[in-house]
Amino acid sequence: MRLPFPRPAAIAGAVAALALGCAAAAPPEQPFRFSHKVHAGDARIGCTACHAYAERGPVAGVPSMARCQGCHKFVKEDKENPQLDQELKALRKVLDEGKPVAWARVHRVPDHVFFTHQRHVVTAALACRECHGEVEKMEVVRQVAPLTMGWCLQCHQLPKNRGRAPTDCWACHK
Ligand code: HEC
Ligand code: HEC
Ligand code: HEC
Ligand code: HEC
Ligand code: HEC
Repeated sequence: MRLPFPRPAAIAGAVAALALGCAAAAPPEQPFRFSHKVHAGDARIGCTACHAYAERGPVAGVPSMARCQGCHKFVKEDKENPQLDQELKALRKVLDEGKPVAWARVHRVPDHVFFTHQRHVVTAALACRECHGEVEKMEVVRQVAPLTMGWCLQCHQLPKNRGRAPTDCWACHK
């Protein structure tokens, strides 16, 4: 397996992840193959082209199959790359059936925690990668940050965020 960072850092990261709970848990099985590397990396499609609600509301949202169809009406085959060609044919079948795909959720904070994308992405102008890592390089998207209270507070308490990002219990807990 190729590690995305030098080994000592990876080991320290793994130890920290164990201490914090489960940051490096394996991603859940998805019902259908979807590569962020192909879309957000190689094809350079912007994150919010598909996750439109990240800038408009609390949840980022996962695109509907209609959005996939909008592009894949035109992107149907790849004669130069047999593997991609096969995956595009499999996609064609799924799109023709017209059934929604139930993607497995990868990130989730408990219900008692209040978190909104809009305030972080628009008001605080944080890039997706600050919390989700280099998704554009991932074949299968996985959680890289622990999403624990300590992790949220670590950023909220940075000098540059003082007075803006809340540290009161009730700001994050409903
Ligand atoms: C062409 C559409 C498309 C683009 C572009 C795209 N995504 Fe996604 N994204 C999806 C789909 C579909 C899923 C659900 C399947 C999965 O988890 O792989 C998803 C899932 C995710 C998830 C996990 C959601 C969860 O359940 O927790 C994150 C995080 C994410 N995307 C971030 C990004 C970021 C960051 C970018 C830009 C670098 C990006 N996405 C670009 C379509 C897209
Ligand atoms: C804005 C255009 C666009 C959108 C929207 C889009 N795709 Fe793609 N998709 C592409 C391009 C470009 C390729 C690469 C084709 C190639 O290189 O031959 C691709 C390749 C693929 C492939 C084959 C490679 C792989 O990822 O395994 C699958 C499967 C796929 N897309 C599924 C989806 C799904 C599911 C959605 C909706 C969640 C989606 N696409 C939305 C443009 C798009
Ligand atoms: C400040 C950290 C942070 C930033 C920045 C951030 N996210 Fe998230 N993201 C989270 C957290 C925390 C969750 C889990 C939220 C929950 O369970 O309600 C999440 C969940 C998601 C999900 C799955 C659930 C949902 O809301 O639909 C997607 C998709 C997603 N993020 C995409 C993005 C994209 C795309 C960007 C950039 C435009 C982005 N995120 C920026 C922290 C962040
Ligand atoms: C990388 C930095 C960073 C991380 C990580 C982060 N935040 Fe924030 N958060 C901010 C900043 C900056 C603001 C202030 C935005 C503004 O100026 O309104 C903020 C604002 C907020 C607010 C107040 C605005 C609102 O939406 O009501 C809440 C609540 C919040 N964050 C919850 C969380 C939670 C919960 C987590 C962890 C799951 C988290 N944040 C992780 C930087 C971060
Ligand atoms: C910046 C956001 C944020 C602030 C401020 C915050 N919390 Fe949390 N808290 C979280 C998140 C995210 C979780 C869920 C992840 C975890 O358990 O670490 C959590 C979890 C918890 C839990 C549940 C642990 C469990 O086992 O389920 C308790 C209790 C808690 N917080 C108490 C507090 C108290 C008391 C304060 C004020 C001193 C506070 N929190 C301030 C984000 C925050």
